[in-house]
Amino acid sequence: DGVRRRDFINIAAVSAAGVGGASILIPLISQMAPSEDVLAESSTEVDVSAIEPGQAIKAIFRKQPLFVKRLTDAEIEAANAVDVGSLRDAESLNDRTLEGNRDILVTMGVCTHLGCVPLGAAEGEVKGEYGGYFCPCHGSHYDTAGRIRKGPAPTNLVVPEYAFTSETVIQVG
Ligand code: FES
Repeated sequence: DGVRRRDFINIAAVSAAGVGGASILIPLISQMAPSEDVLAESSTEVDVSAIEPGQAIKAIFRKQPLFVKRLTDAEIEAANAVDVGSLRDAESLNDRTLEGNRDILVTMGVCTHLGCVPLGAAEGEVKGEYGGYFCPCHGSHYDTAGRIRKGPAPTNLVVPEYAFTSETVIQVG
């Protein structure tokens, strides 16, 4: 079924080009694609008020998955109990969160090994041995602060630049 659908789309695209559509389509597409400048400056707003402790939501930031998680007290304690010097990529939870909102963890949902989307943000997904995120591609385990703890990923999940624009809304980028 899926294959037939794709065939149909291919045939439709070819016939559009066949009747001279290509000359019209190409300028349209180049106008629609955001320029590098626009993309580099684009930001994403996320309302964090509905995120319960222990829950995360997935958003998109500059075309890539973004995880916004509200940590439970236990998850914060687990993150703070780690000797930062023992970590592959030595960052504390405080380094990775904002003062006054230590429970809000904002990271890219992109494994720093080869770019897969880790599991653990959606309800019921495995969180790995350290209770944060787990990348199933080659088995990278991230802890409750999104720090790499086991597996091939070289660095922690990236924390993008962000700020609170109100009590409940963050602007990323
Ligand atoms: Fe995540 Fe390889 S891409 S472990």
